Amino acid sequence: MKRRRFGKTEVALPVIGQGTWNIPESKKGRSEAIAALRHGVALGMTHIDTAEMYGAGEVERIVGEAIAPLARESLFLVSKVLPSNASYEGTIAAAKRSLQRLGTSYLDGYLLHWCGEYPLEETMRAMRTLIESGSIRFAGISNCDVEELAIAERALSPYPVLCDQVLYHLYERTAEHRLFPYARTRDIPIVGYTPFGRRQISALLADRTLREIAAAHDTSVRSIVLAFLTRDPVLFAIPKASSIAHVEENALAGELVLRSDEIDAIDRAFPKGPLGDLASL
Ligand SMILES: NC(=O)c1ccc[n+]([C@@H]2O[C@H](COP(=O)([O-])OP(=O)(O)OC[C@H]3O[C@@H](n4cnc5c(N)ncnc54)[C@H](OP(=O)(O)O)[C@@H]3O)[C@@H](O)[C@H]2O)c1
Repeated sequence: MKRRRFGKTEVALPVIGQGTWNIPESKKGRSEAIAALRHGVALGMTHIDTAEMYGAGEVERIVGEAIAPLARESLFLVSKVLPSNASYEGTIAAAKRSLQRLGTSYLDGYLLHWCGEYPLEETMRAMRTLIESGSIRFAGISNCDVEELAIAERALSPYPVLCDQVLYHLYERTAEHRLFPYARTRDIPIVGYTPFGRRQISALLADRTLREIAAAHDTSVRSIVLAFLTRDPVLFAIPKASSIAHVEENALAGELVLRSDEIDAIDRAFPKGPLGDLASL
């Protein structure tokens, strides 16, 4: 699994991490998802992304169960505060609840899930307090475009913004126009979520360009997609998988290196589209 320095943190993270939204909460699916998460960590996918929103807190409990037997320092555990909780006091209280559900004393990353009713400055002030009390190592944001990212940087100073987690897949490349160049100059990692897209999955899997490149590498289309989405040093991806087979397939992407002609071919097959507002789910 390729690892890269994650922005200004000096921490080297796997290019492919693990998402947890909608992991099954019921008995069989739950135990399979726990086994899959642990297997993913064993394969090097130590960056685990969750949020208080997922399963209204239940997913954090599942992640807590998954990581309980693992060496905490081997993981990079990230959770997110809901905008409706993101007042100064609310952020601190939400972080405490997340830590309890996850069964850990600190988060490696804590992100504002998206910008809402509370000023970003207020949420980032709470993040500074959480960093200083040792509850979180780094703070970041999600679903934020350049302007909000710049506000977060100022408000979080002297601490760096950990990352901006944004929607990024082959049919949704809007972030490449403005956000990626800004993030590169500021050394702020972009963590792409929903890497396989939603409605377009059948078209993606059937795409001829992707299938040809996958065949040339003796791998799957999904691995090629993840390799493309993490082709730039600023880019990381967090696919979610609830089975060991899916986790193994996704981890393969962390070993792949696409040639520049392959990147160009994918680029042509899935054009960036026009400049527009940053998309989110
Ligand atoms: N910040 C935000 O606002 C935000 C928004 C959305 C998502 N996220 C984060 O990003 C993560 C990923 O996004 P996502 O969950 O929306 O979408 P995704 O990772 O693009 O897709 C997940 C779907 O793909 C399937 N899948 C994964 N690997 C597979 C494989 N190798 N073969 C076949 N199917 C496979 C999963 O099935 P199985 O579950 O059956 O394996 C699941 O149905 C989330 O889990 C969450 O942590 C953040």
